[in-house]
Amino acid sequence: MLPSHWPKWTVILIGLALAVFTILLALVLEPAAQALMPWPTPTATLPALHYAAPQSRECILCHTNPETLRQTVTDAAELERLWIDPADVLSTHGRLGCVTCHRGTGGTTDLAVAHQGLVKDPTLHFEHECTLCHRNLPDEIPGDRLRTPHSSVVHGLAQGVTCSDCHGAVGHGFDPVSGQVICPMNVCMDCHKTRNLPAELQDCNACHIGPHDVAAVLSCSDCHTSTQRWNEIHLAVHPVELTGWHAQIDCFDCHDWPNFGGLRYVCSDCHKRPHDFGDDNCERCHTPEGWNK
Ligand code: HEC
Ligand code: HEC
Ligand code: HEC
Ligand code: HEC
Ligand code: HEC
Ligand code: HEC
Ligand code: HEC
Ligand code: HEC
Ligand code: HEC
Ligand code: HEC
Repeated sequence: MLPSHWPKWTVILIGLALAVFTILLALVLEPAAQALMPWPTPTATLPALHYAAPQSRECILCHTNPETLRQTVTDAAELERLWIDPADVLSTHGRLGCVTCHRGTGGTTDLAVAHQGLVKDPTLHFEHECTLCHRNLPDEIPGDRLRTPHSSVVHGLAQGVTCSDCHGAVGHGFDPVSGQVICPMNVCMDCHKTRNLPAELQDCNACHIGPHDVAAVLSCSDCHTSTQRWNEIHLAVHPVELTGWHAQIDCFDCHDWPNFGGLRYVCSDCHKRPHDFGDDNCERCHTPEGWNK
């Protein structure tokens, strides 16, 4: 407390002086504090999405209506190709709007004008249409155990391969988000074959990553006979003959999952002798055909 005999104006003066001092101190300290603080570097300017959903109304109205399309196109297959299911317009990609991906000129029902500047395959310009949102595309898809040449595509090594070769017309009819198969295997195989890619790029191992560590010595097709299901297998040769019951049982009743390791073919490794006579050389008296044969 201030002494009560001080005049009032002194108190006001002291108060004012204190306020001015605080403001001056803050003015001096603020830049100093800023200089000491870690400061975020400014964000580099990102390429922007050519967002044009509102301009896509006329494209949608014509392409979702078979009648308007039929004014120009009569071939049934061609109509089917050009018709867009109205439901697809509401999908994750569809909502971006036709003009966002395909460009062209919105706001007109005149076909020729609308198609001015049209880009048939937007994924040829994937930097603007796709990888803007989809950065860091994986080369291996863990759940699928699948290799994809995403980085080759993005870096232009896989000449002439674009996103649409595998992902189709993302946004309508073939929308991956709706859970449809992205790229059926025959699409991959057909292209690798017709382009005469090296043999190793036509082998199962090129695309599939197995759970077992045998790829160095065996191809998947040495055991796997189906391209639909992994559990159809046929083994032409096996280091020990699998006869009798052993031909019926699961490979991994004997082998360690998943790498086929950890084995010697000694009967007593796996079977216990229930009788006192004889010894643990079971093979002297038994075969895998059955214990009492
Ligand atoms: C009046 C109807 C009509 C309008 C409006 C229209 N289209 Fe088309 N579109 C067609 C027809 C008919 C074809 C097939 C004949 C052709 O290519 O000229 C077609 C073809 C296309 C193709 C496929 C080209 C190909 O050969 O694979 C794309 C992509 C396309 N339109 C996008 C758009 C976009 C984007 C818009 C809006 C800017 C739009 N269309 C507006 C009727 C229309
Ligand atoms: C997310 C981007 C995207 C959007 C949005 C989009 N498309 Fe497409 N569209 C594609 C891609 C990719 C293809 C495949 C091009 C190719 O295979 O050459 C395609 C193909 C087409 C084709 C040819 C079909 C075919 O199978 O050959 C037509 C027609 C078409 N689009 C019209 C439209 C119309 C109309 C809209 C709006 C309702 C639209 N697209 C919205 C990406 C898009
Ligand atoms: C505006 C951002 C955006 C653009 C542009 C875009 N996508 Fe997508 N994409 C998404 C979103 C959001 C999802 C859904 C992701 C999810 O559900 O986890 C998705 C999902 C996908 C998927 C399925 C992924 C999965 O997990 O199954 C594929 C494939 C895909 N997009 C390809 C494309 C292609 C090809 C293009 C270029 C024509 C494209 N996208 C353009 C936002 C975008
Ligand atoms: C050679 C075929 C091929 C090409 C080309 C290709 N992809 Fe893919 N992509 C795939 C396959 C296969 C998957 C796995 C789909 C699944 O999960 O079933 C995939 C997955 C994706 C996913 C989902 C990734 C995730 O983390 O789940 C996105 C997004 C995607 N691709 C976008 C693109 C874009 C954008 C391009 C073009 C730059 C492209 N892809 C080119 C085959 C391809
Ligand atoms: C339109 C043709 C085409 C389609 C479809 C296609 N590929 Fe390919 N793929 C190629 C070409 C061309 C190369 C060679 C790339 C290079 O030499 O860099 C290649 C190479 C690869 C490679 C080796 C890439 C590397 O980086 O070493 C893998 C893995 C592969 N493709 C997987 C797939 C899968 C999986 C699919 C189906 C989802 C598929 N491809 C569909 C054309 C295609
Ligand atoms: C060029 C790439 C490529 C080659 C080579 C290839 N596949 Fe595939 N395979 C795929 C793609 C892509 C799928 C679809 C994956 C999906 O739907 O998630 C697939 C699916 C499968 C499936 C269905 C099970 C699953 O994972 O969905 C089996 C089984 C299969 N392949 C076996 C084989 C066998 C055996 C070979 C050798 C004869 C082989 N594949 C060669 C790309 C390939
Ligand atoms: C020595 C034979 C052999 C070879 C070589 C082999 N597999 Fe297998 N694989 C099997 C057997 C046996 C099973 C179990 C089948 C069953 O479930 O009945 C199996 C199962 C699988 C499964 C199913 C796994 C699961 O979690 O259900 C996949 C995926 C698979 N193999 C992929 C591959 C791929 C990819 C290759 C090549 C890189 C390969 N395999 C090579 C014998 C083999
Ligand atoms: C009755 C038990 C038994 C069954 C059932 C069995 N195996 Fe074997 N497998 C063996 C023995 C024993 C060896 C030899 C191990 C050694 O010599 O190191 C062997 C060796 C192998 C090898 C070589 C492993 C290596 O590291 O060199 C492969 C691959 C193999 N088996 C695959 C299979 C497949 C695939 C199946 C199912 C069709 C199968 N086996 C079923 C007992 C079995
Ligand atoms: C790596 C383990 C393993 C080895 C080594 C092995 N077996 Fe087997 N055997 C099995 C399995 C697993 C079965 C399936 C039935 C079971 O669980 O007993 C079986 C089944 C049998 C059966 C039929 C059983 C019944 O229920 O009637 C006979 C007989 C048999 N084995 C004999 C032999 C003989 C003889 C040898 C030595 C030459 C041998 N096994 C080596 C794992 C093995
Ligand atoms: C000296 C010969 C001999 C040897 C070694 C031998 N067994 Fe036997 N085992 C027999 C005879 C004999 C029987 C009775 C066959 C019958 O019932 O017709 C028998 C019966 C069995 C039975 C069937 C019992 C039942 O109740 O049906 C099993 C299981 C069996 N042996 C397992 C083994 C195993 C495991 C080994 C090695 C660890 C082994 N044996 C070693 C001679 C032998």
